Amino acid sequence: PRPIVLDVDTGTDDALALLYAVRSADLDLRGVSCVAGNAGLEQVVDNTLRVLDVAGAPDLPVAAGATKPFIERAQTDEQFHGENGLSGVELPTATRTVSALSATEMLYTQITSSAEPVTLVSLAPMTNVAMLLTLHPDVADHLERLVFMGGSASQGNVTAVAEFNVWQDPEAATCVVESGLPVTMYGLDVFNRLLIPQEAADRWTRSGHPAVRAAGELLHRRGMRAAGFEQDYEGVLGDAGALLILTHPELFTTEALPVRVNLQGIGRGQTVVDRRPLAQDQQALDRDPWRVLEVALDLDVEAAAAAYCA
Ligand code: BDR
Ligand code: CA
Repeated sequence: PRPIVLDVDTGTDDALALLYAVRSADLDLRGVSCVAGNAGLEQVVDNTLRVLDVAGAPDLPVAAGATKPFIERAQTDEQFHGENGLSGVELPTATRTVSALSATEMLYTQITSSAEPVTLVSLAPMTNVAMLLTLHPDVADHLERLVFMGGSASQGNVTAVAEFNVWQDPEAATCVVESGLPVTMYGLDVFNRLLIPQEAADRWTRSGHPAVRAAGELLHRRGMRAAGFEQDYEGVLGDAGALLILTHPELFTTEALPVRVNLQGIGRGQTVVDRRPLAQDQQALDRDPWRVLEVALDLDVEAAAAAYCA
């Protein structure tokens, strides 16, 4: 299995991703760092510990990181993820506890002590990850790849062009995009297409296994139901796609494309993806500060949903 560390802002769909990360035989989860995002940091840490208990995860470090983005004010998303960040799904109080190390130090220790290179997967605003890369540049020698859920090659969700994770900390996203590491961007346009059929979620809610039941409940309550609005089942799986792209790369269409984070004006927080054929020209690729990332553009929705459910 591929060794990974996860940075999360748990969050309904981060919870669904954690449940998958623990369960997948192709992934070896070595640590989870928490950052403010969908909910405040304390809530994110508590949710993460609870989800790992329910998932039956082995003893692995969970560390607390940034309480806010570098420049922006913290903006939690209760409207979408509910007051507890888990769309109101109540999980039992956690038995495990948070690490004494900060997120940055825990990530550094777990990554550099691994015998094989580690893949870092970010499902949240990238403040912790940017801090890790900035304080410990030598960590790059131990990283296989960095995958982030964030940005978009088309429209945004928080603004017309910006997706939440990048919009919340665009300077941190810039550090990641311009890191020079092999980076995969799993953006909102693909994220929104990854749907779990209602029949599967219904079945899970009736399961005898607490982790499967939790996944079913989270999917059912995700989105507008968190805010008390009844809406038809929607089924967006979300963050877990950033793990499926590692375990099932054959189900995704990706392209090497120049990307840059827009830091200014009404486009702030947008990932500008240059899809012009001209961009493939070597000179265009070398333009600083554009960086060529592996950008997910499409996926086989049914097969990816089946892979998550398997
Ligand atoms: C991202 O923001 C959060 O709502 C989700 O957990 C996901 O990481 C989508 O914009
Ligand atoms: Ca998230």
